[in-house]
Amino acid sequence: MLRLQLPLGERYTDATPGELADRIAAAKATLGDRLFILGHHYQRDEVMEWADARGDSFRLSVLAQEQPQAEYIVFCGVHFMAETAKILAYDKTILIPDERAGCSLAETLSADQLRAWKAEHPGAVVVSYVNTTAAVKAETDICCTSSNAVEVVASIPADKEVLFGPDQFLGAHVQRTLQRDNMHIWMGECHVHAGINGAELRERVLAEPDAEFFIHPECGCATSALYLASSGVIPEGRTRILSTGGMAEAAVTTTAKKVLVATETGMLHQLRKANPLVIFEPINRAAVCKYMKMITPEKLLMSLREGRDEVTVPFDIAQRARQSVERMIALGTPSPTGE
Ligand code: 13P
Ligand code: SF4
Repeated sequence: MLRLQLPLGERYTDATPGELADRIAAAKATLGDRLFILGHHYQRDEVMEWADARGDSFRLSVLAQEQPQAEYIVFCGVHFMAETAKILAYDKTILIPDERAGCSLAETLSADQLRAWKAEHPGAVVVSYVNTTAAVKAETDICCTSSNAVEVVASIPADKEVLFGPDQFLGAHVQRTLQRDNMHIWMGECHVHAGINGAELRERVLAEPDAEFFIHPECGCATSALYLASSGVIPEGRTRILSTGGMAEAAVTTTAKKVLVATETGMLHQLRKANPLVIFEPINRAAVCKYMKMITPEKLLMSLREGRDEVTVPFDIAQRARQSVERMIALGTPSPTGE
């Protein structure tokens, strides 16, 4: 990496936003094509503006391997996402501006716990959401994202038991859609999405009879949303269970005047940019992922100048994890809408 010495007396934290922007632009220009910056939809706006590509967690990891010229990928997101990029683009240097940016959902299932669960269900097929560590992916048969979880489980022969983890709400969405009895669901959750609950949703539905609803399947309210839709409280066509990438696409084509959004609030900036004519409002304003917000312009600059923090995955784990990701990719492109 650059490994520049800081000019004498310069401290990252002293810089004004303008000075920081100039320094990031200069570091980017020095690295040129050797560098590619990825930004997840939940990132701060002032970080997102430096991203060469924006997207949902999985699309970004695939993009990492599709940059033949890039030696350095800086992943502005959380650690499991940067690990997935490393698994897919093993020859590249993958950096995350702060390696402490974790994920409460990924932490709910460890490789040891998964091995013990597998031992209780010999012969079961393990499906893991991409919000997992590389070590968990290495113990997994096939990965899924929020946009293709239903298709992935549907591809498994009906007589096979399925172990689905770690997100219980995404698992419930899949089970409800496929009506599959032999599916066991790990009781993990993301603290941000679990906090967007059915009671809040119901209140907003009743107060805003004309609004459309974009709901991430990790939300505690996803089950209630589908129930409210199927029982006619919200018109079915107005309730859309979407990945962050699916939301970005649906924002462009929606005909609603107002859309209420159930996911991390960073998504709101992206949706408003995608369609300034629509009013986008969060269902829960407090749905903020503190891990995503750990990435700041100061840390991005440090990453570009000093090559930190490098994300590594042991080779054998990466090989096995890659197989579970590639099985998912072989099933086809994730549906853009996540429905
Ligand atoms: P997406 O895969 O939809 O980007 O979601 C990732 C995530 O962390 C949701 O909280
Ligand atoms: Fe993990 Fe939840 Fe943050 Fe997404 S919003 S990165 S699932 S903690």
